[in-house]
Amino acid sequence: MRRHDGLISLTHDHHHGLAQARRLRIAANGSDEERLRASETFIDFFRTEALAHFREEEEVVFPLAVDRPGAEAFLERVMIEHLRIHAIVARLEHELQSGKVSQETATDAAAALRSHIRFEETEVFPMIERVVPEDELEILAVRLGEGSERPDRRARTHAPE
Ligand SMILES: [Fe+2]
Repeated sequence: MRRHDGLISLTHDHHHGLAQARRLRIAANGSDEERLRASETFIDFFRTEALAHFREEEEVVFPLAVDRPGAEAFLERVMIEHLRIHAIVARLEHELQSGKVSQETATDAAAALRSHIRFEETEVFPMIERVVPEDELEILAVRLGEGSERPDRRARTHAPE
């Protein structure tokens, strides 16, 4: 099913997140040096993009759905997953700072982000499209789209393909 315009910028973020997770997963099985470099890139992506993305979901999107029938269990799970991703990224960052990233931590971080994005795309966003009224979804397109406060998104939107 086609994603509603109100959620499309978040879905674009998800594509980018999946690419980052894939890169880290592959590097997890590589050399120590490859793991360090990929972890650095992943953490940079997390700080510059993923944190802003989580905030938009938590502060703008999920509140539109939280009191609708059937939404709560989905949102409890996504919020717990956000916390788990913060935890695993903190572990990754700690290891990076100590100069050695384990295969396990890099693999776990990549897997946590990937499965979270899949859950949002296959279950949470379709639920939001079902329960949130059309006019409220349309407002999201304006708030989260090109005119948003996010410099990384503006850079991506206006960058030549
Ligand atoms: Fe998300």
